[in-house]
Amino acid sequence: MEQKISLHDKTFRLFIPNETIEKAIDAVAARLNKEYADCTDEHPALLLCTLNGAVIFSAELLKRLTFPLEFKACKLSSYQGTTSTGIVNTEVPLPKNLEGRRVIIVEDIVDTGTTIETLHGQLMERRVQDVRICTLFLKPEVYKKSIKLDYVAMEIPNKFVVGFGLDYDELGRNIKDLYVLDI
Ligand code: IMP
Repeated sequence: MEQKISLHDKTFRLFIPNETIEKAIDAVAARLNKEYADCTDEHPALLLCTLNGAVIFSAELLKRLTFPLEFKACKLSSYQGTTSTGIVNTEVPLPKNLEGRRVIIVEDIVDTGTTIETLHGQLMERRVQDVRICTLFLKPEVYKKSIKLDYVAMEIPNKFVVGFGLDYDELGRNIKDLYVLDI
C-alpha cells in the first residue's frame, strides 16, 4: 500500500485503508439485512447505484445483502475537479416504473448534499413507496440539507478524497484504499 500517490497535477496521501472501509460496509450491510428482511420476490427492494462513484461500494454491498432486491443505476453529476459546482446534471436517467417501489439510493459520498437532494426529489415525484439513502462517506461539516441520511458507513472531514470508486477528474477510482489531498 503506497503512502503517497499522484493523479494528474496533485499528490494524495494514504487516509483510510481498505480493511477499515470494508468493515464499515459490513456494519451497514448488517443493518440493511435486518431492516429489509421483509422484502419478497414479488416486492423486492431496488438498489439504485449512482454512477460512477458508487460502483465499488454497490458491488461490495451486493455481495453482502441477503434480501430479495433488484439492481439499477443512474448518473447525476455536480463535481468538476475538486469542487462542487452546485449544478446537478442528469447523465443517465432514472429507471422506468418506479411507482410503489422501496428504493435504496447507494451513494459514494455526500458532500453539500445537492446531488442527493435532487435525486431524492426526482424519486418522490415518481411515487415510490419509500426512499432511503445509503452512503459510503459523509462530510458532516459540509452537509446542510434536511434530507435524512439513513445509512452512513463512515464520516470523514471536509477534505477531498480519492479511491474506492471516488475520482479526481476520472482518475483514482480503481485504488482500493482511500487517499486524501496532500496540502
Ligand atoms: P454533493 O452534491 O456536493 O453532495 O456532492 C456529491 C458528489 O460529488 C459525489 O457523488 C461525488 O461524485 C462528488 N464528491 C464529493 N466530494 C468528493 C471527494 O472528496 N472526492 C471525490 N468526489 C467527491
